[in-house]
Amino acid sequence: MTRVIKTVKEWNELYKSENLSASQLGFVPTMGALHRGHASLIEKSVADNRKTAVSIFVNPTQFNDSNDLQKYPKTFEQDFAMLEEYNVDYLFFTSYEELYADKFAYQVHENSFSKILCGAFRSGHFDGVLTVVLKLLNIIKPGRAYFGEKDYQQYKLVKGMAEAFFLQTEIIACPTVRDEDGLALSSRNLLLSPEEREFALNFPRLLKANKSCDEIKFELEQLGFKVDYIEEYDGRYLGAVYAGKVRLIDNVIL
Ligand code: PAJ
Repeated sequence: MTRVIKTVKEWNELYKSENLSASQLGFVPTMGALHRGHASLIEKSVADNRKTAVSIFVNPTQFNDSNDLQKYPKTFEQDFAMLEEYNVDYLFFTSYEELYADKFAYQVHENSFSKILCGAFRSGHFDGVLTVVLKLLNIIKPGRAYFGEKDYQQYKLVKGMAEAFFLQTEIIACPTVRDEDGLALSSRNLLLSPEEREFALNFPRLLKANKSCDEIKFELEQLGFKVDYIEEYDGRYLGAVYAGKVRLIDNVIL
């Protein structure tokens, strides 16, 4: 049974009563609409730790586009069934009021790497991500937290924050999970029409095609994608494109 915890006070009481300790607790933060990508992180946490906590919180401070926030898919019942299936011990399912009593007056602001790649197109996005992750890590107090390489820049920034602020949580990267046809799994894929989904397959195909970034960008644009960027970083090609109105990100190891 997955136990649902809604407030910080409740979590603190449970932490004591269940004798939890960081060394035995794994944590997977999410925004819900769970899929096999999330499941791979959960599986790793369940394998590595005596107890696993997952959070579901659609964090408004990381959405630079209010329309994107409004449309963000919500599938709570299916999500909860998945957590039970994977033997997750705790679901932290809290509210904006609980997490942001300060109304986002206090923020984590990264000044360098968060400004390039996705950060150049999504102003304030990573400040929102880092702020909510810091809050969640301070509340849950896990020894390990799991992040997907699908959001490679996010993973690197969270790891950098953990080092910069001497957090006691180890940040663990998990490889990108894809559909059989190559599309990286993402909650936003639910927003693609069948035609857009088919069209979107060109994105991972071209990222892997052994071409230069400029060539990939050019070919994607020729096909009709709006391309935010295709860039090489850390021995990877990273990119962000729009298939219709849906923004997709992906990266591949070179
Ligand atoms: P969300 O998009 O729900 O993703 C939660 C975690 O699942 C992230 O670490 C993400 O990288 C990972 N993930 C998503 N798709 C994946 C895939 N196809 N393969 C492997 N891992 C995948 O990322 C967020 O939420 C938020 O920014 C959050 C960190 C929860 C802060 O609000």
